[in-house]
Amino acid sequence: MAFWHRKNRGRGAGEKPDPARLPRHVAIIMDGNGRWAKKRGLPRTAGHAAGAETFRTIAYYCRDLGIPYLTVYAFSTENWKRPAEEVSTIMDLLRKYLLEALEKMEKDGFRIRFFGDLEPLPPALRELCLEAEQTGSQVTAARHQVNVCLNYGGRDEILRAARAWAQACQTGRESPEELTEAVFSHYLDTAGIPDPDLVIRPSGELRLSNFLPWQSAYAEFYFTDTLWPDFGPAELDKALVDYQRRQRRFGGV
Ligand code: IPE
Ligand code: IPE
Ligand code: MG
Repeated sequence: MAFWHRKNRGRGAGEKPDPARLPRHVAIIMDGNGRWAKKRGLPRTAGHAAGAETFRTIAYYCRDLGIPYLTVYAFSTENWKRPAEEVSTIMDLLRKYLLEALEKMEKDGFRIRFFGDLEPLPPALRELCLEAEQTGSQVTAARHQVNVCLNYGGRDEILRAARAWAQACQTGRESPEELTEAVFSHYLDTAGIPDPDLVIRPSGELRLSNFLPWQSAYAEFYFTDTLWPDFGPAELDKALVDYQRRQRRFGGV
């Protein structure tokens, strides 16, 4: 056992990421809330409440580490398939944490943006999202930006972007001959934000579930069996240390 520990030192708990080589953008699929609750004999909604607390902890931890962008997957375009009660609990939690964020943004130095189609959301929540974005845009000393994917689907995002670009072509502002990856990126929800360097999925699932497919083309992936409500700063350290061991080639040598 002692030998195992020595041999594996630096491969597990306790190691800190190198602050000089942190990713600029970390993206997380906040998955496993339901299973976390089930394991405890609690309703799934209790898992979402616990997951929301984890979100706050991780967002502040990223800010304190000096990671400029954190994007979280909070609700997908497919999650409307869930029971109405579960959906409304998630919307209520979003409202609660958004109100808190609105109050703390300025003092705590962060901004919020939303990726996804906000149109189908309850109107009061949509208003709150827009207010949070607006307030955040005025936080001049922001050190950190949190992007919340809400009613987000990667394919839906690409379709909405394609539609907007096609309309711009009709009015002569764009032309098919001049379409490049950079031009198209301006029409995505993520316009102006660097691509994620690291995509993390907890809960043991090995899939993207429609999360940032365009932007993740060259991201590094980190999967762990830990369920999202149990994903603390030590877990993020582990993911970052793992990321820092990798060699990114982007197709080069
Ligand atoms: C992620 O946790 C939260 C949302 C998708 C809104 P889940 O609710 O998917 O948890 P599991 O996957 O059922 O454990
Ligand atoms: C992805 O998790 C969406 C969010 C975490 C918001 P899901 O639980 O919805 O994904 P699947 O159904 O397991 O692919
Ligand atoms: Mg899930």
